[in-house]
Parts: sequence; C-alpha cells; structure tokens
Amino acid sequence: MGWNSWNAFSCAVTEEDIRSAADRLVETGLRDAGYEYLVVDDCWMDDELDDGYLRPHPEDFPSGIEALAEYVHDRDLKFGIYSSAGRVTCQGYPASLGHERKHARQFADWGVDYLKYDNCGDHEGKDALARYSAMGKALAKVDRDIVYSICEWGRNEPWRWGRNAGGHLWRATHDIVAKWSTEDTEFGLGIADIIDQMDDRDIAPSHGPGGWNDPDMLQIGNGPDSGQSKLEDVTVERGLTPAEERTHFSFWCLFAAPLMAGNDLVEMDDRTLALLTNEDAVAINQDPLGIQGTRDGRLGETEVWSKRLTDGRCAVILFNRGRTPATIETTVETVDMSVDAATYTVEDVWEDDEWQTSGTLHATVDPHDVALFRVSPE
Ligand code: GLA
Repeated sequence: MGWNSWNAFSCAVTEEDIRSAADRLVETGLRDAGYEYLVVDDCWMDDELDDGYLRPHPEDFPSGIEALAEYVHDRDLKFGIYSSAGRVTCQGYPASLGHERKHARQFADWGVDYLKYDNCGDHEGKDALARYSAMGKALAKVDRDIVYSICEWGRNEPWRWGRNAGGHLWRATHDIVAKWSTEDTEFGLGIADIIDQMDDRDIAPSHGPGGWNDPDMLQIGNGPDSGQSKLEDVTVERGLTPAEERTHFSFWCLFAAPLMAGNDLVEMDDRTLALLTNEDAVAINQDPLGIQGTRDGRLGETEVWSKRLTDGRCAVILFNRGRTPATIETTVETVDMSVDAATYTVEDVWEDDEWQTSGTLHATVDPHDVALFRVSPE
C-alpha cells in the first residue's frame, strides 16, 4: 500500500509535491491506515546520464534524491522511485537498460525502498525476461531490501516469470485511466475493462504473498485527465461517479491488489479519504491468505465475485454493470466459502450494516455499483 505521483502529477512532479504528499500521508491518517510506500514516478531525472549514473532533474528535484528519501523516512514512510528497462523512460528521460548494476547501487545508496521498473525505450533486442531479470539480479546484489515492481503492462505474461526475475509485483494490465471504460481509440483502460481482464486472463493462481498481480494504481479522487502521458494527445470527457469509485476500490480489495493511491493528497476531499481508509475493505485487501478473488457467476449485467479469507470467512461482491438498479442474489455454496455452517453473519462494508443468514446473500445494487460483504460462519 502506498501512493504514487503519476496519476495526480504526471510529468510535472517536483520535490515539493513529494514533500507535501509525505506530510499529507501522515496528517490525513493514510499512513496509519497502511499507505506506507511513497513512490516518485517518471520525470524525476535529468535529460542526460552522468558517466552512466542517473542525475535528479536540477530544477524540479534540486535537493537530490537522497535528501528527499530522508524526508520521507523521517515521517516513517518508505521511499520509491521509477526507471525503465529500456534506453529511455516513457516520457523520454534516461533509463536503466545496460546500467542496471550502477543504478541499483545508486538507488540503494540513496535509501530507495521500492523500484517501479517500466517497459519504455529501445530494448536493444533483449526480451522482457532478460531485461527484467538484469535489474532483479542487480537489486538482489545491493545491501538493501528494495521492493521490485515490474511494469511491462501484462504484455509478456509477467505472472509466469515475474517471481523468477526477482519481482514482487507486476502490472497485469495496461495503464488505468479515471473512466468506467474506454474505446479502442482512447488511451488506457477504464475500471470495468481492467476488472474483465483480471478475470479473463486467469492469473489468480499465480498471485499470492511475495508475488502480486497488479491491476495498476487507484484513480479514486482523480479528475478525468489524470494518468495521461504528456506525450499522448487525448481528450478525456468523463471521470468516475461515486458508485464507480466504490466499485473500483471494492474490486482492488477483492483482488488483494497493491493499493497505490494516485490522487492529489493536498486537494483530497472527505469522501475520497473515507473510501481509501475504510477499515473493513482494507482488511479484505490485506487478508493474510493473499488470494486474488475471482468471478463465480454472471447473469445478464449482474455478477457475483468472491475471495476466500482467513478464519473460514469470505468476501463477496455483488456487481451491477447495468444502467438500472438490480437485485442480485447468490448463496454461500456459490461463493468461495470454505466452511459449512447453519448460520452466517453478513457484514455489509459500505452500508455499515450486519445481519444473519442461513445461506442466501442478496442486495439491490445501483448502476455501476457493488455491494461488498464479509461473510463469517457462526
Ligand atoms: C507508463 C506506466 C505508467 C507511468 C508512465 C510514466 O505508461 O505504465 O504507470 O509510470 O509510464 O511515464
């Protein structure tokens, strides 16, 4: 769990934005809710390498990365940074292909705790496994624990080789944008598109402690232009409704996905904070079994999804993709409930309500919304 600069600041990010984000993670209670890693995405570096080494951008990051990492660590947060397994980053800055050992040592010396490693720039004819393993090996050699986040957008099925390359998480899907769904002609993927891909790709079996499928960062609290590359010429007309944001967060919790907030923490409203810090939803996300929930069934535009939890419990999503409210019903036999009981307690996470059932689970769900239940055998 953490926060990443890309969706809110894209290429305009400065060290001041990162300092404010660190302060806000503490002041708002996000850090204490679990959002621990603060990651600077693309565009922190200067235009040229220096003898093969990366240099921070002199105007945007004048104090340097080591000082920034220290500022972040002083607030009991972890510090993350970005590079790419190509000659340049997605925004055209120098990257790490061919300089893996030098850069890994630099990151360790600076106090970096997390590396997001992208897929842009000339690959010099090397395949993904070779490029990502080279950085994985370089990180393993340094005297510092660095979480290795592989970001090749699910292109080369990283769920098959990500662990072997030294990765701890890997993007399973293309870039997220703050929309419900996108057309083929638009940049990125909407929430509903990613939900579909996470299930269609059948990747849940490779997900678990130490190696996570990553459906990309959270777009909660973001306007419709967020997460757009400065190099993409796109017009985005719609963001997410409150129901769609709830659906987004509920699914990322059901997927046991990395939760990287991506909103401007200085401008954050109460609704966004309440969503990101809902204790029951975060507990479902952080459940120690680390299982990625999957789809149990579909009827018209309604769907049932579930995820097995510790202590014989189960998280259930009743999802309405349609444009009118729908009553959705399932049973404990249909969802991934490991324990039989005469009675089950159902906790409704978003309605903050609780009741008992002998096996039927149902709710009336608004368009593009979900009901999120935690079901416990008695
Ligand atoms: C790619 C990544 C994004 C972001 C941008 C930065 O598109 O998938 O998450 O890091 O690059 O340029």
